[in-house]
Amino acid sequence: MKLVLASQNGKKLQEMAQILSQLGVEVCLQRDVGVNVEVEETGTTFEENARLKAQAVMEASGLPAIADDSGLCVDALGGAPGVYSARYGGPGLDDAGRCRLLLENLKGQPRAAKFVSVITCCLPDGTVLTARGECPGTIAFAPMGEGGFGYDPVFFLPKLKKTFAQLSPEEKNAISHRGQALRAFQLELKHHLGR
Ligand code: IMP
Repeated sequence: MKLVLASQNGKKLQEMAQILSQLGVEVCLQRDVGVNVEVEETGTTFEENARLKAQAVMEASGLPAIADDSGLCVDALGGAPGVYSARYGGPGLDDAGRCRLLLENLKGQPRAAKFVSVITCCLPDGTVLTARGECPGTIAFAPMGEGGFGYDPVFFLPKLKKTFAQLSPEEKNAISHRGQALRAFQLELKHHLGR
């Protein structure tokens, strides 16, 4: 089975392909099947946005499509940046700028946070499969590590005394929100395929 990932993000593709290959499922980026849709993430929940993306790419490609919507939810900020994680601080910021803004906005505040990932798969026969994963942690006081992407350098795991950016891809997959959602999704898909 081949799944089209509704994303342009090669790192997400790597993380997903690594876990889903165990099921004999191949994953490719939407551009690999000539699909150019850029879906506006107008939902207010991770579930809504994942569904919007997967549905649009399934309709455009005619193939099973998978999408993930994910983000960082910080308790002291009332769950922000949440579904707006990629757009936090406006379009002028890059990943490093968003991390700096987050540290600035959290000065003197409690540091509890979690990453959330929701994965939705839309099949051409109308079937919709969904799974959610969460990874609790804290926000570090300064960026640490070179790996990963997004908020990885400031997402600290107290048990490991490391940020996500200080973990290998395998270590991150084993505990991350996306890893957990993918493993839950893998079970859903396995059940659906009757394997
Ligand atoms: P999405 O592509 O709409 O799901 O955007 C999610 C945003 O949340 C990304 O652009 C990152 O800023 C952040 N994010 C989600 N997952 C991760 C992760 O594993 N590490 C670091 N940042 C993440």
